[in-house]
Amino acid sequence: MTTTVEKPSSDAPSGGNVPLVELKNVGKSYGNITALKDICLRVHAGEVTGILGDNGAGKSTLIKIISGLHQQTDGELLVDGEPTKFGSPADALEKGIATVYQNLAVVPLMPVWRNFFLGQELRKKSFPFSLDADAMRATTLTELSKMGIDLPDVDVPIGSLSGGQKQCVAIARAVFFGARVLILDEPTAALGVKQSGVVLKYITAAKEAGFGVVFITHNPHHAHLVGDHFVLLNRGRQKLDCTYDEITLEHLTQQMAGGDELEALSHELRGGKN
Ligand SMILES: Nc1ncnc2c1ncn2[C@@H]1O[C@H](COP(=O)(O)OP(=O)(O)OP(=O)(O)O)[C@@H](O)[C@H]1O
Ligand SMILES: [Mg+2]
Repeated sequence: MTTTVEKPSSDAPSGGNVPLVELKNVGKSYGNITALKDICLRVHAGEVTGILGDNGAGKSTLIKIISGLHQQTDGELLVDGEPTKFGSPADALEKGIATVYQNLAVVPLMPVWRNFFLGQELRKKSFPFSLDADAMRATTLTELSKMGIDLPDVDVPIGSLSGGQKQCVAIARAVFFGARVLILDEPTAALGVKQSGVVLKYITAAKEAGFGVVFITHNPHHAHLVGDHFVLLNRGRQKLDCTYDEITLEHLTQQMAGGDELEALSHELRGGKN
Protein backbone atom coordinates (compact mmCIF):
# COMPACT_ATOMS: atom_id res chain seq x y z
CA MET A 1 0.00 0.00 0.00
CA THR A 2 1.51 3.30 -1.03
CA THR A 3 0.48 6.57 0.47
CA THR A 4 0.83 9.58 -1.77
CA VAL A 5 -0.47 13.07 -1.42
CA GLU A 6 -0.51 15.65 -4.17
CA LYS A 7 1.36 18.89 -3.68
CA PRO A 8 -0.55 21.84 -2.18
CA SER A 9 -2.52 23.50 -4.94
CA SER A 10 -1.69 27.07 -3.90
CA ASP A 11 1.65 28.60 -4.82
CA ALA A 12 4.59 27.71 -2.65
CA PRO A 13 5.10 30.20 0.16
CA SER A 14 7.40 33.07 -0.65
CA GLY A 15 10.99 31.92 -0.30
CA GLY A 16 12.10 28.73 1.35
CA ASN A 17 12.47 30.06 4.85
CA VAL A 18 9.36 32.10 5.45
CA PRO A 19 7.10 30.01 7.67
CA LEU A 20 3.58 29.35 6.42
CA VAL A 21 2.34 30.34 9.85
CA GLU A 22 4.19 32.05 12.65
CA LEU A 23 3.15 32.99 16.17
CA LYS A 24 5.16 35.70 17.94
CA ASN A 25 4.71 35.93 21.71
CA VAL A 26 1.08 34.94 21.44
CA GLY A 27 -1.04 34.97 24.58
CA LYS A 28 -4.69 34.28 25.23
CA SER A 29 -6.70 35.11 28.31
CA TYR A 30 -10.29 34.21 29.02
CA GLY A 31 -11.26 36.84 31.58
CA ASN A 32 -8.68 36.35 34.30
CA ILE A 33 -7.68 32.84 33.16
CA THR A 34 -4.46 32.85 31.17
CA ALA A 35 -4.75 29.92 28.77
CA LEU A 36 -1.58 30.77 26.79
CA LYS A 37 1.38 33.05 27.37
CA ASP A 38 4.35 33.99 25.19
CA ILE A 39 4.02 31.27 22.58
CA CYS A 40 6.44 31.41 19.65
CA LEU A 41 5.89 28.90 16.88
CA ARG A 42 6.85 28.48 13.24
CA VAL A 43 5.09 26.11 10.89
CA HIS A 44 7.14 25.42 7.77
CA ALA A 45 6.12 23.78 4.52
CA GLY A 46 7.25 20.16 4.38
CA GLU A 47 7.50 19.82 8.15
CA VAL A 48 5.48 18.22 10.90
CA THR A 49 5.27 20.33 14.05
CA GLY A 50 4.22 18.20 17.01
CA ILE A 51 2.35 20.06 19.74
CA LEU A 52 2.37 18.11 22.97
CA GLY A 53 0.92 18.82 26.35
CA ASP A 54 -1.19 17.42 29.13
CA ASN A 55 -4.88 18.18 29.73
CA GLY A 56 -5.49 21.89 30.06
CA ALA A 57 -2.01 22.74 28.70
CA GLY A 58 -3.47 25.05 26.04
CA LYS A 59 -3.25 22.87 22.91
CA SER A 60 -6.85 23.44 21.79
CA THR A 61 -6.60 27.15 22.53
CA LEU A 62 -3.48 27.32 20.36
CA ILE A 63 -5.13 25.64 17.40
CA LYS A 64 -8.27 27.72 17.81
CA ILE A 65 -6.10 30.82 17.32
CA ILE A 66 -4.33 29.43 14.23
CA SER A 67 -7.61 28.21 12.74
CA GLY A 68 -9.44 31.51 13.21
CA LEU A 69 -11.94 30.37 15.82
CA HIS A 70 -10.53 32.64 18.55
CA GLN A 71 -8.29 35.68 18.47
CA GLN A 72 -5.20 36.01 20.59
CA THR A 73 -5.20 38.67 23.29
CA ASP A 74 -1.43 39.31 22.94
CA GLY A 75 1.23 38.92 20.29
CA GLU A 76 1.11 38.45 16.55
CA LEU A 77 -0.06 35.86 14.05
CA LEU A 78 1.71 35.91 10.68
CA VAL A 79 0.76 34.02 7.54
CA ASP A 80 3.45 33.84 4.83
CA GLY A 81 5.28 36.51 6.84
CA GLU A 82 2.35 38.95 6.84
CA PRO A 83 0.72 39.99 10.13
CA THR A 84 -2.82 38.66 9.92
CA LYS A 85 -6.03 38.77 11.92
CA PHE A 86 -8.63 36.10 11.32
CA GLY A 87 -12.24 37.02 12.00
CA SER A 88 -13.49 33.46 11.52
CA PRO A 89 -12.41 29.96 10.46
CA ALA A 90 -13.49 30.89 6.92
CA ASP A 91 -10.73 33.55 6.85
CA ALA A 92 -8.16 30.92 7.86
CA LEU A 93 -9.45 28.47 5.26
CA GLU A 94 -9.13 31.12 2.62
CA LYS A 95 -5.42 31.29 3.47
CA GLY A 96 -5.20 27.51 3.17
CA ILE A 97 -5.26 26.68 6.89
CA ALA A 98 -7.59 23.76 7.57
CA THR A 99 -8.31 22.05 10.87
CA VAL A 100 -9.42 18.47 11.30
CA TYR A 101 -11.03 18.28 14.74
CA GLN A 102 -10.96 15.13 16.77
CA ASN A 103 -14.71 14.71 16.75
CA LEU A 104 -14.68 15.08 12.92
CA ALA A 105 -17.63 17.00 11.57
CA VAL A 106 -19.09 14.03 9.71
CA VAL A 107 -22.63 12.74 9.38
CA PRO A 108 -22.22 9.05 10.28
CA LEU A 109 -25.22 7.74 8.35
CA MET A 110 -24.39 9.54 5.13
CA PRO A 111 -22.28 7.86 2.45
CA VAL A 112 -18.54 8.53 2.38
CA TRP A 113 -18.79 10.60 -0.81
CA ARG A 114 -21.56 12.83 0.62
CA ASN A 115 -19.38 13.52 3.64
CA PHE A 116 -16.37 14.23 1.44
CA PHE A 117 -18.28 16.99 -0.34
CA LEU A 118 -20.43 18.10 2.60
CA GLY A 119 -21.23 21.80 2.20
CA GLN A 120 -19.26 22.00 -1.08
CA GLU A 121 -21.31 19.72 -3.31
CA LEU A 122 -20.68 19.49 -7.04
CA ARG A 123 -23.66 20.33 -9.20
CA LYS A 124 -24.49 19.38 -12.76
CA LYS A 125 -23.50 22.07 -15.22
CA SER A 126 -26.68 21.67 -17.23
CA PHE A 127 -28.95 21.37 -14.15
CA PRO A 128 -27.44 23.53 -11.40
CA PHE A 129 -30.18 22.43 -8.99
CA SER A 130 -29.17 18.75 -9.19
CA LEU A 131 -26.19 17.26 -7.44
CA ASP A 132 -23.59 15.59 -9.63
CA ALA A 133 -23.45 12.38 -7.62
CA ASP A 134 -21.40 10.47 -10.21
CA ALA A 135 -18.66 13.10 -10.30
CA MET A 136 -18.57 13.28 -6.49
CA ARG A 137 -18.37 9.47 -6.15
CA ALA A 138 -15.58 9.27 -8.72
CA THR A 139 -13.57 12.11 -7.17
CA THR A 140 -13.92 10.65 -3.68
CA LEU A 141 -12.68 7.26 -4.89
CA THR A 142 -9.70 8.81 -6.68
CA GLU A 143 -8.72 11.07 -3.79
CA LEU A 144 -8.92 8.25 -1.25
CA SER A 145 -7.04 5.74 -3.35
CA LYS A 146 -4.24 8.32 -3.77
CA MET A 147 -3.66 7.97 -0.04
CA GLY A 148 -3.82 4.21 0.04
CA ILE A 149 -7.40 3.88 1.20
CA ASP A 150 -9.03 1.50 -1.21
CA LEU A 151 -12.68 1.43 -0.33
CA PRO A 152 -14.61 -0.93 -2.56
CA ASP A 153 -17.65 1.27 -2.18
CA VAL A 154 -17.87 4.97 -1.30
CA ASP A 155 -21.64 4.56 -0.89
CA VAL A 156 -21.22 2.95 2.54
CA PRO A 157 -22.08 5.21 5.50
CA ILE A 158 -18.95 6.94 6.81
CA GLY A 159 -19.88 5.69 10.28
CA SER A 160 -19.00 2.15 9.16
CA LEU A 161 -15.34 3.02 8.42
CA SER A 162 -12.57 2.46 10.94
CA GLY A 163 -11.39 5.41 13.02
CA GLY A 164 -8.15 5.70 11.04
CA GLN A 165 -9.99 5.66 7.73
CA LYS A 166 -12.40 8.35 8.93
CA GLN A 167 -9.47 10.56 9.94
CA CYS A 168 -7.86 10.04 6.55
CA VAL A 169 -11.11 10.89 4.72
CA ALA A 170 -11.28 14.13 6.71
CA ILE A 171 -7.64 14.98 5.93
CA ALA A 172 -8.01 14.09 2.22
CA ARG A 173 -11.04 16.37 2.12
CA ALA A 174 -9.06 19.30 3.55
CA VAL A 175 -6.27 18.67 1.04
CA PHE A 176 -8.70 18.42 -1.88
CA PHE A 177 -10.31 21.75 -0.97
CA GLY A 178 -7.01 23.62 -1.05
CA ALA A 179 -5.38 23.40 2.39
CA ARG A 180 -1.63 23.90 2.65
CA VAL A 181 -1.48 23.94 6.44
CA LEU A 182 -3.16 20.96 8.09
CA ILE A 183 -3.96 21.20 11.77
CA LEU A 184 -4.76 17.78 13.17
CA ASP A 185 -6.28 17.76 16.64
CA GLU A 186 -5.31 14.49 18.34
CA PRO A 187 -6.00 12.39 15.23
CA THR A 188 -4.65 9.22 16.84
CA ALA A 189 -6.11 9.66 20.33
CA ALA A 190 -8.95 7.19 19.97
CA LEU A 191 -7.15 4.72 17.70
CA GLY A 192 -5.38 1.41 18.23
CA VAL A 193 -1.84 0.71 17.04
CA LYS A 194 -2.71 -0.37 13.49
CA GLN A 195 -5.18 2.44 12.81
CA SER A 196 -2.77 5.00 14.28
CA GLY A 197 -0.20 3.66 11.80
CA VAL A 198 -2.58 4.44 8.92
CA VAL A 199 -2.90 8.05 10.08
CA LEU A 200 0.81 8.48 10.87
CA LYS A 201 1.74 7.23 7.39
CA TYR A 202 -0.63 9.74 5.90
CA ILE A 203 0.84 12.56 8.00
CA THR A 204 4.30 11.68 6.64
CA ALA A 205 2.95 11.61 3.08
CA ALA A 206 1.35 15.04 3.55
CA LYS A 207 4.62 16.47 4.86
CA GLU A 208 6.58 14.97 1.97
CA ALA A 209 4.15 16.57 -0.46
CA GLY A 210 5.00 19.97 1.03
CA PHE A 211 2.18 20.61 3.47
CA GLY A 212 2.84 22.24 6.81
CA VAL A 213 1.37 19.83 9.34
CA VAL A 214 0.54 20.74 12.94
CA PHE A 215 0.04 17.50 14.81
CA ILE A 216 -1.51 17.80 18.26
CA THR A 217 -1.07 14.78 20.46
CA HIS A 218 -0.75 13.47 24.00
CA ASN A 219 1.45 10.66 22.70
CA PRO A 220 5.21 11.33 22.58
CA HIS A 221 5.76 8.07 20.65
CA HIS A 222 3.46 9.18 17.86
CA ALA A 223 4.95 12.68 17.84
CA HIS A 224 8.49 11.33 17.67
CA LEU A 225 7.65 8.93 14.81
CA VAL A 226 6.57 11.69 12.43
CA GLY A 227 7.62 15.05 13.94
CA ASP A 228 10.42 17.30 12.71
CA HIS A 229 9.93 19.83 15.43
CA PHE A 230 8.30 19.65 18.86
CA VAL A 231 6.64 22.16 21.12
CA LEU A 232 5.60 21.11 24.59
CA LEU A 233 3.01 23.18 26.42
CA ASN A 234 2.61 23.15 30.15
CA ARG A 235 -0.10 25.22 31.80
CA GLY A 236 -0.15 27.61 28.88
CA ARG A 237 3.63 28.08 28.71
CA GLN A 238 6.04 26.78 26.13
CA LYS A 239 8.16 24.37 28.10
CA LEU A 240 10.15 22.92 25.24
CA ASP A 241 10.82 23.87 21.65
CA CYS A 242 13.28 21.72 19.75
CA THR A 243 13.94 19.82 16.56
CA TYR A 244 13.98 16.06 16.04
CA ASP A 245 17.79 16.02 16.16
CA GLU A 246 17.81 17.79 19.50
CA ILE A 247 15.71 15.35 21.51
CA THR A 248 15.46 11.61 22.04
CA LEU A 249 12.17 9.78 22.44
CA GLU A 250 13.12 9.05 26.06
CA HIS A 251 13.66 12.70 26.83
CA LEU A 252 10.47 13.76 25.06
CA THR A 253 8.50 11.11 26.97
CA GLN A 254 10.05 12.17 30.25
CA GLN A 255 9.30 15.85 29.61
CA MET A 256 5.77 15.01 28.57
CA ALA A 257 5.19 12.85 31.62
CA GLY A 258 6.17 15.67 33.92
CA GLY A 259 9.89 14.82 34.20
CA ASP A 260 11.01 15.67 37.70
CA GLU A 261 7.45 15.62 39.05
CA LEU A 262 7.11 12.00 37.92
CA GLU A 263 10.38 11.01 39.56
CA ALA A 264 9.28 12.64 42.82
CA LEU A 265 5.95 10.80 42.59
CA SER A 266 7.67 7.47 41.97
CA HIS A 267 9.89 8.09 44.97
CA GLU A 268 6.86 8.92 47.12
CA LEU A 269 4.80 5.92 45.95
CA ARG A 270 7.63 3.52 46.56
CA GLY A 271 8.25 4.97 49.98
CA GLY A 272 11.72 6.19 49.10
CA LYS A 273 12.88 2.66 48.18
CA ASN A 274 14.35 3.71 44.81
N1 LIG B 1 -13.64 29.29 26.50
C1 LIG B 1 -12.91 29.23 27.62
N2 LIG B 1 -13.24 29.98 28.71
C2 LIG B 1 -12.50 29.93 29.83
N3 LIG B 1 -11.40 29.17 29.99
C3 LIG B 1 -11.03 28.39 28.96
C4 LIG B 1 -11.75 28.38 27.72
N4 LIG B 1 -11.13 27.52 26.87
C5 LIG B 1 -10.08 27.02 27.55
N5 LIG B 1 -10.01 27.55 28.79
C6 LIG B 1 -8.97 27.25 29.80
O1 LIG B 1 -7.72 27.39 29.19
C7 LIG B 1 -6.82 26.36 29.59
C8 LIG B 1 -6.29 25.60 28.39
O2 LIG B 1 -7.35 24.85 27.81
P1 LIG B 1 -7.23 24.01 26.45
O3 LIG B 1 -8.58 23.49 26.14
O4 LIG B 1 -6.57 24.85 25.43
O5 LIG B 1 -6.26 22.81 26.89
P2 LIG B 1 -5.86 21.49 26.11
O6 LIG B 1 -4.36 21.41 26.13
O7 LIG B 1 -6.50 21.45 24.78
O8 LIG B 1 -6.44 20.34 27.04
P3 LIG B 1 -7.05 18.89 26.66
O9 LIG B 1 -5.89 17.98 26.44
O10 LIG B 1 -7.81 18.53 27.90
O11 LIG B 1 -7.92 19.04 25.46
C9 LIG B 1 -7.59 25.49 30.58
O12 LIG B 1 -7.28 25.92 31.88
C10 LIG B 1 -9.03 25.77 30.23
O13 LIG B 1 -9.86 25.63 31.37
MG1 LIG C 1 -7.89 20.15 23.87
